Amino acid sequence: MKTGHKLLTRMCNSFYGAATTYRQIDGEFTARTYLDSAASCLMLKPAYEASLKFLDHYSNTHSDTHNSAIISNQMYKWAHAQVLQFVNADPEEYTCIFMGSGSTAAINRVARSLSAARPEKPGVLISLMEHHSNDLPHRETHDFAEHIGCVGEGVDLGSMDLDALEAALSKHHDKIDYVAVTAASNVTGVVNPIHDIAQRAHAHGALVVVDASQILAHRALSMQGIVGDGSDDIDAVVFSGHKIYAPGSPGVLVIRRSLIDGGAPMEFGGGMVDQVFKTEYTVTTKFPDREEAGTPNILGAVNLGMCLDIMTRIGMDVIEQHESEMLSYLFNEMQSIAGITIYGDTDLSLVPRTATISFNLAGVDHGLLAAILNDYFNLALRNECFCAHPYVREMILQQLWDLDPDLEEAEIESKKGMVRASFGLNNSIDDAHRLVTALKEIDTRKDWYVSQYLRSEDGGFKHLKGSIDWNTYFCPSTVLESVL
Ligand code: ALA
Repeated sequence: MKTGHKLLTRMCNSFYGAATTYRQIDGEFTARTYLDSAASCLMLKPAYEASLKFLDHYSNTHSDTHNSAIISNQMYKWAHAQVLQFVNADPEEYTCIFMGSGSTAAINRVARSLSAARPEKPGVLISLMEHHSNDLPHRETHDFAEHIGCVGEGVDLGSMDLDALEAALSKHHDKIDYVAVTAASNVTGVVNPIHDIAQRAHAHGALVVVDASQILAHRALSMQGIVGDGSDDIDAVVFSGHKIYAPGSPGVLVIRRSLIDGGAPMEFGGGMVDQVFKTEYTVTTKFPDREEAGTPNILGAVNLGMCLDIMTRIGMDVIEQHESEMLSYLFNEMQSIAGITIYGDTDLSLVPRTATISFNLAGVDHGLLAAILNDYFNLALRNECFCAHPYVREMILQQLWDLDPDLEEAEIESKKGMVRASFGLNNSIDDAHRLVTALKEIDTRKDWYVSQYLRSEDGGFKHLKGSIDWNTYFCPSTVLESVL
């Protein structure tokens, strides 16, 4: 077995929460299977343990003379460098800025900075697939925003429709500030051709802002294009540390220095100034300092750097292959269950996808299906619309209208939702097998499972036997007393 594969196998079992057990509704305690990495990844233990060792040297990065301050400053710089290297961004051209606790703060920052820097370009183009965080900030900061759909029809939507993009860029030639697009959907895992999109955008004077939150844990992403002349390079990338096995780490923005160089920083305070007098102050020209006012999340950044280092050691090609095997297995098996609809094009030779699958089982509400999977099978999946309403609505509407063209709008809204299984480094093919086995069992005895639940007042579902008392699993005062 090659080194990367060996390390992957080891890491697969090295997550906090890998051994968590919960009592199923039948009373049996079983191991939880975590299939919700698209929402938040579990903590990669070796990365966190390595960053805890850094705590022996922890200090504020605004101090700079004592030994711990020197080490902390170097480690914080190291974390920035790890990010730039991971996304293949030339440090001479790009800067990495840590902020917030997910990608939202970073996207808001990009939207505000670029709209201020390029007021002659009042519009943005946003892919239909976006999470609300890569949609609403752009709408708020620009005069107009147009959504670009995906190729395909009904539930079989693929990646961003490049012809529609081209048409919109031509229509608004020179008036588009940037194209905002996710590298991979948080709903279907469908991967977008970001370099092709960048090349088309650049030809019309637009930039490209890529949300990499759903891809970096799964596939390599390079800010440098494929063509080699810079025409398809990416201008800005944002991502969340908690979606790359480092919960508690900051959100990240990697952006061309030239795009934020001239503008005022977005936040003011300590660390981003050279001199402060009573009546004036000078903002430092150093990146990323001028963009990171205040004491940063140093431990979180170091933990993120450790995770990126481990993933590089495994090899993103090895991780991609591991996920592809799970995905092919899941598609084959899930499509053999008659009532299952998988959203997004499933032809992997045409549409590359990460191991994120959203689906529905006919006759079982998405909320009920997620509850059954949790209560009877200890499978942790997310349901509803995953903060991507326009994209989910597009696929659900088409499906519902195919079933019943006379459906009322209110009824459509009440049915809008899916169940999502999202896989990561912590999962193996055994987890995929567990999900398939559970879905087959539920499909076979659907009426019985449905009969075990009542609709609760908040619109959710309650098992006839009641719900779990979370305090029995984690009581803060008991846990605290156990370590005091
Ligand atoms: N963006 C996260 C998700 O897709 C929270 O679930």
